[in-house]
Amino acid sequence: MIRYFENMDEFKSKLNHKKFEEQGSVSAVCPSNIALIKYWGKREIQIPMNPSLSFTLNKSRTETELKFKPNPTNDFSLKVFFEGNHQPDFEPKIYSFFKRIEDFVPFLKDFEFEIHTSNTFPHSSGIASSASGMGALALCLTEIENLLGADLNADQKLKKASFLARLGSGSACRSVYPGVTVWGKTDSVSGSSDLYAIPYPYKIHPIFKNFRDTVVLIEEGQKSVSSTAGHDLMNDHPYAEKRFESAEENLKKLIPVLKNGDLETFGTIVEHEALSLHAMMMTSHPYYILMKPDTMKLIENIWTFRKQTSVPVFFTLDAGANVHVLFPENQSEKVSQFLKEKAGNHKMIEDFTG
Ligand code: DP6
Repeated sequence: MIRYFENMDEFKSKLNHKKFEEQGSVSAVCPSNIALIKYWGKREIQIPMNPSLSFTLNKSRTETELKFKPNPTNDFSLKVFFEGNHQPDFEPKIYSFFKRIEDFVPFLKDFEFEIHTSNTFPHSSGIASSASGMGALALCLTEIENLLGADLNADQKLKKASFLARLGSGSACRSVYPGVTVWGKTDSVSGSSDLYAIPYPYKIHPIFKNFRDTVVLIEEGQKSVSSTAGHDLMNDHPYAEKRFESAEENLKKLIPVLKNGDLETFGTIVEHEALSLHAMMMTSHPYYILMKPDTMKLIENIWTFRKQTSVPVFFTLDAGANVHVLFPENQSEKVSQFLKEKAGNHKMIEDFTG
C-alpha cells in the first residue's frame, strides 16, 4: 500500500535564524490516550500504515517542566529528571527525538535543557507513558517557540505540537487534543493527516461523553516486547496488508456508531480491533504473546457478564496484558461492582474520556 506524502513546510519554524540567548522555563500537562482503532505498523518517519482513532483520557497524565538556558556548546544538551531524580537512561530517547525534530525547532542546540517530568499514574504500572510524555514535551517546545517570538496561534500551536509529538512516539500525536482524535490520512475523515492528529470532526452521541476506561493492571512493569519492536515486525508480516485494510474498514464503520450511540456495534468494532492487534503479535516472525492468563479470564468474564446482564461493557487492549474496560458513565455502579468481584486482586486506574 502506498500512502501519499504531505508537505511538511508549514511546520518549519518562522523564527529568524540566530543564536538565542534567553533563559526561562515553561510547563505543560498532557494526558494518555486509548486507541479504539489501533495504530500498528509504520514507515519512515513515523508515518502510520493505517489511520487510528482514540479517546484521550483525563486522569492519567504527564506533567512536564522544561527549563532552558544558553548552551555554550554547539551540540544538544539535556538532562531528564523523573519525579525529582536524574534519569540518564531516559536521555537517549530524547536525544534522538531532538535530532528528528531539529529542522522544525531551530533553537534546540541554543539551549541547555532540563526536563522535569512526573506522571499522575503509578510508575511501572504498565501504562505507557510515551504518549503523554512526548505530548507534554512537544507542547513545552511550542511554548518556547512562542516565547522566542514565533507567534503561533492556539490552533497552530496544537497542530505543531501534535506534529512534533508524532516524531517522538506515534500515539503521542493524538494525546495533544482532548476527547476523540484521529491520526492518519483516510478518506473517511475529512482533514485527517499522516503527519498529525486532528480532533474528531463529526457528531458524537452523548452516551460517549465521560465514557469510562477502567484500566485493570494485569501485569505491571516493562513489557517483554516494546511497541517500537512490534511495529517493526509488521514490515514483513504475512497478514499486514489485510490488517491495514481492516483497520481502515473498522474506522469507517465506527463513524456512524459514534454518531448514533449504537453500543453493541461499538463493542463489536472495538473488541475486534483489540484482538486483531494481538493476533498480529501472535503471527509475526518471531511471534509473541503479550496477553496473560488473567487477561483472557477477564475478557471471558466481561463477555459472560454482558450476556447475562445486558450491561454495555467492552474491553480493549493496548500493546500489553492490561485490560481497558470501557463503558458509559451511567453504568459505573454496576461495572465497578462486577470488577470488584472479577478483577479485585489487580490494581485499577479509573479513568474517562473528555
Ligand atoms: C498498540 O505510539 O507506542 O498502543 O510510535 O513506536 O512510539 P511508537 O509506538 P506507540 O504505539 C502504540 C501502539 C498501540 C496502538 C495505538 O495507540 O494506536
